Amino acid sequence: MKYYICVALLAALLAGCSSVPNSSSSSSESSSVAAAAPTTAPTSTPVPATATPAPTASPTPVPEQSSIEVVDGITYVNGILIANKTYSLPADYAPGVNEEAKAAFEQMKQAAAAEGLNIYISSAFRSYEYQTKIYNNYVARDGQQQADTYSARPGHSEHQTGLAFDLNSIDDSFANTPESDWVAQHAHEYGFIIRYPADKESVTGFKYEPWHLRYLGVDTATKVYESGLCLEEYLDITSIYPQ
Ligand code: DAL
Ligand code: ZN
Repeated sequence: MKYYICVALLAALLAGCSSVPNSSSSSSESSSVAAAAPTTAPTSTPVPATATPAPTASPTPVPEQSSIEVVDGITYVNGILIANKTYSLPADYAPGVNEEAKAAFEQMKQAAAAEGLNIYISSAFRSYEYQTKIYNNYVARDGQQQADTYSARPGHSEHQTGLAFDLNSIDDSFANTPESDWVAQHAHEYGFIIRYPADKESVTGFKYEPWHLRYLGVDTATKVYESGLCLEEYLDITSIYPQ
């Protein structure tokens, strides 16, 4: 038990090193619980070339822990601000566009331009009220069940965090363009991930959005990119609306 608490504390301390806004900047009321962290890749054990090794007792796996902390109604998992179907934001949370994310995007835009590609932000920060308006329009058009596959309910959109940007055409025509391919390959170098990957709909809760980037900072974005996991898998969290 003591060991789990130590690992959780270590994970929380490490996460606190992130330059992306995290819970450590607030001194207000908070609560935290532990959650299972993603399994790390097993390290390979050298196997003798000849004899079949006798079966040995495998050590009991020790689950790593990640910390979930709620500060002023905002959820941080290992220090990463999370907005998805499970974790919502307060209606009055309106930080505007995150300046660090914006500056990172400008760097990325320049790098793309140097290769003759034009990427631009089509949608950035969206308030709770604005998300309510667009979500309701989609529900009126397609019904709630369908709308829930591509539009976040108010309070559940990453756009309300100021850390998400939609690029270029916000529709399927963006997929497989030179710009989309370039972004998929290079976004992590500037601190972004493709938040809703093609084959992760059942985990993220949203269909593939090649245009929707989430800023995490270069270190975390690179780790997530290299893991091949979506953010929910990487943090071992769910994205499901409460009943
Ligand atoms: N389209 C994404 C899921 C949003 O509405 O935030
Ligand atoms: Zn988006």
